[in-house]
Amino acid sequence: MEDRVYISWKKEYELGIPEIDRQHMRLVELINKLYMAMETGTVAETGKVLQGLIDYTVTHFAEEERLQEQHGYPGLDVHRKLHAELVAEALSYVRRFQAEEPGIEANLMWFMKDWLLNHIKREDANIAAYLLGK
Ligand SMILES: [Fe+2]
Ligand SMILES: [Fe+2]
Repeated sequence: MEDRVYISWKKEYELGIPEIDRQHMRLVELINKLYMAMETGTVAETGKVLQGLIDYTVTHFAEEERLQEQHGYPGLDVHRKLHAELVAEALSYVRRFQAEEPGIEANLMWFMKDWLLNHIKREDANIAAYLLGK
């Protein structure tokens, strides 16, 4: 079976901070991997991929916050709060997935794509603008 892609990486998602861009690309890869697992894998296999995505998201958020701290980004507290809210929301989707709620797969995938792309565009872009403008 041919690999189907849920999110295609676009040049416009790049923020110009190589380490952050690389991590965002990895998140896209993991979301695509989750999509494939949902199409073809068992609940247990998909659950593992989902856990890997959540773990990497937590790592990425910590890295991004560390970078903001290091450079005295003024919006750090707000950004940290947004990250914490996203993790909490993602975990509530994980629980619903584990409970095998009908139709949860599509909702979960939509949530992952929506938060990632919107968060990059609306929030992470501000960090990049600040860092690059310094
Ligand atoms: Fe990010
Ligand atoms: Fe962020």
